Amino acid sequence: MELLGTRIDYFGEIERLKGELNAVILAHYYQEPEIQDLADFVGDSLGLARQAQGTEAEVIVFCGVHFMAETAKILNPEKTVVLPDLDAGCSLADSCPPAEFGRFIEERPGHAVVSYVNTSAEVKALSDVICTSSNAEEVIGSIPKETPIIFGPDRHLGRYLVEKTGREMVLWPGTCMVHVLFSERKIRQLKVRYPDAEVLAHPECEERVLRVADHVGSTSSLLKRAVEGSARRFIVATEPGILHQMKKAAPEKEFMRAPGKGPEGACEACSECPHMRRNTLEKLYWCMEDLSPEITLDEDLRVRALKPIERMLELG
Ligand code: 13P
Ligand code: SF4
Repeated sequence: MELLGTRIDYFGEIERLKGELNAVILAHYYQEPEIQDLADFVGDSLGLARQAQGTEAEVIVFCGVHFMAETAKILNPEKTVVLPDLDAGCSLADSCPPAEFGRFIEERPGHAVVSYVNTSAEVKALSDVICTSSNAEEVIGSIPKETPIIFGPDRHLGRYLVEKTGREMVLWPGTCMVHVLFSERKIRQLKVRYPDAEVLAHPECEERVLRVADHVGSTSSLLKRAVEGSARRFIVATEPGILHQMKKAAPEKEFMRAPGKGPEGACEACSECPHMRRNTLEKLYWCMEDLSPEITLDEDLRVRALKPIERMLELG
């Protein structure tokens, strides 16, 4: 980009600002490749929350979506947390308005409330414990067997966890706008063409997609399987940003985006999360230059949201 006739060297400038600000750049696997390459740490929701908890940097530059940056702020009230685009939201978090979720809980007294990290601080504050797709089974296992559970907001992840843990749970009916779009029929067709390909799927996908998957897990679990597994070819049913790390770590293997439900030849970008992709290299530079947009939180809300996050992190 040109600014007053000068070309900005984003990579160089971001490196400079990182030193000047004593900043750390945390990026989710769904960010565009150039942002991942600039980050100090690239990871899944749980890994990023742990990095945020442990960092000594004064400024956290969070390249992800709002709930992730907000979690970093909840853990670090004294630090400045910036997000390149404040409108980088999440359809799952949006599908769970706090007032309605509060009523849902009130109508079910005696239930433990386990909320996925893809929620607002207000919903976290209503919860007993938070989980991510990496640790959800362990978190559910920590709830006494006789205690009934409310799980929200992702109903596909919830259904998958009911099956995995054998625990009955009342599910909030939220979904992820990206993961519900993968087509089981087209994945099967691709499997016919490439019978040696392994299907990797995130548990936010619909049940019928998970049924054709060879491996189901969080983004870090899918990456691990892609790198360490013996298959040479993979069909990946999650946001395609993760393919960058897969290709870097296993350049000799082949990775294909799982096809979506759209018409034949529909645009490849349909499986990209429109929220995650709001962050760009240019916005990353400007948020560091301006230290804005910044994540801010009411202190009382922060303290209430912190408790269930800490409970999750204490589980190991
Ligand atoms: P992970 O916790 O697996 O990184 O997933 C985050 C997410 O937003 C999935 O859509
Ligand atoms: Fe939210 Fe889905 Fe985007 Fe993940 S992929 S951030 S769950 S909208």
